[in-house]
Amino acid sequence: MFETMKAPPPDKILSLAELFRADTRQGKLDLGVGVYKNEAGVTPILPSVAQVEAAHVAALTTKAYVGPGGDPDFVALVRELAFGKDAPVARIAGVQTTGGAGALRTLAGLIAFQAPGTMVHVPDPTWVNHLSVLADAGLPTKAYRYFDAASSTVTVDAMLEDIKAMAAGDVILLHGCCHNPTGADPQPGDWDRIIAAVVEQGVLPFVDLAYQGFGEGLDEDAATLRKLVVAAPELVLAYSCSKNFGIYRDRTGAAFVLSKSEAGSVAARGQLQVRNRVAYSMPPDHGAKIVAGVLGSPELNAQWRAEVGAMRAHVGRNRAALAAALEDIDATRFGALAGQKGMFCCLPISEAQVDRLREEFAIYMVSDGRMNLAGLDVSRAPELALAVARVL
Ligand code: LMR
Repeated sequence: MFETMKAPPPDKILSLAELFRADTRQGKLDLGVGVYKNEAGVTPILPSVAQVEAAHVAALTTKAYVGPGGDPDFVALVRELAFGKDAPVARIAGVQTTGGAGALRTLAGLIAFQAPGTMVHVPDPTWVNHLSVLADAGLPTKAYRYFDAASSTVTVDAMLEDIKAMAAGDVILLHGCCHNPTGADPQPGDWDRIIAAVVEQGVLPFVDLAYQGFGEGLDEDAATLRKLVVAAPELVLAYSCSKNFGIYRDRTGAAFVLSKSEAGSVAARGQLQVRNRVAYSMPPDHGAKIVAGVLGSPELNAQWRAEVGAMRAHVGRNRAALAAALEDIDATRFGALAGQKGMFCCLPISEAQVDRLREEFAIYMVSDGRMNLAGLDVSRAPELALAVARVL
C-alpha cells in the first residue's frame, strides 16, 4: 500500500523551526512560527497559567475520561470570553477541541457532514493550514480578494464585490482579528459593510479567532464576531487558546455553532460531539482545566488580562520600531505596517528575497514574507530593516 506513497512538501511555517535549530550562526533571528516571545526571546508560561496548573496537578485525583465535548465549564467560560456577556447563549452550542486547528477541523467536518461539497471562500492570502484542513474535510475552497501586497492594505471594495458573487449557502472564512499572515484587518466601518453583504448574500460566516487580545484588547478583538452574532442568523467559530494563554502544546481550543433556534443548538451540540468522537474520541483535558481555572477566578482572570495586555504591548513596541526603521528606507512601500494588528506582518518581498535574508543574514521568516513580530527585539529593528533594504 505505501510503496507508491509520496512524501508531502514541507509545511512552509513549521519546517522553518527545524532549519532555524540547525543554523549555528550567532545572532540568528527567528521570525517564523507564530508564538509569542518576551524580551529575552523566551516563550514564557504566563504566571496566571503556572499558578493554576500547579494547583490543578496537585489536586488531580483521576485521569478518567471527560467526554467527547470536553469540560463544559471551559466551554461556557470561553464562550463568554469570545461572544461576550450579552450573547444568545441558548442558541450557541460549543465543544472543547484540540487547539484552534482541531476546532477548524471539527467545524469543517460538521459542514461537510451537513452539506457535502459546500464551497468555502477563504481570504487571499490566508493561514496555509486553512486550505489543508478544509481540503481534508472534503470541502472545496475558493479565494476571495482581501489584500493588496504592494500597499499592504485590505482591498475592502474588491472583497465586497467577491462576497456579492457568492452563492447563498456558501461559507466565508473570516479572521476575527489580527489577520494571519498579513496583520491587516478591515476597519470597524469596513466590517459593518462586509457583515451586511455576508448576511444579505445568505453566506455562512466561519470565524477563526486565534489571536484574541493581541490586536487592541480582548473585547475589542471580539467586536467583529459579536456584530456578526447580532446580524447573522447562523455562524460557526473556531477558537484557539494557544496564543492568549500561551499553552500552545497543550492543544486547547473550542468550536461553536450559532443556530437559529434552541432546538437547532441542541442538535448542533450533539453533532459537534460526534465530530470530536470520530476524530479523536475526546479532547485532551489539561489545557482546558487551566483556562477554566484562570477565567473562573476573578483575581486570576484580572491578572491574566494584564498579562495578555503586556504581551500585546510588547509586540506593539516591536511593530512600531520595525515600522519606523522600514519607513526610513521606503515610506511608500512600508507605510501601512505601523497600523496593522497582532503578531504578524507580511513584507512585500519575494520568496527569493526571503531566501536571501535567511541565507545571508540568518533571518528566518515564512516564504510569503510573513514575519512574527514577537520574535523581534526593538534593539534589532534597525538591523532587520537594513537587511531587508539590502535584499530589495
Ligand atoms: C502560525 O501561524 O505560525 C501558528 O498558528 C503555528 C502554526 O501551526 O502554523
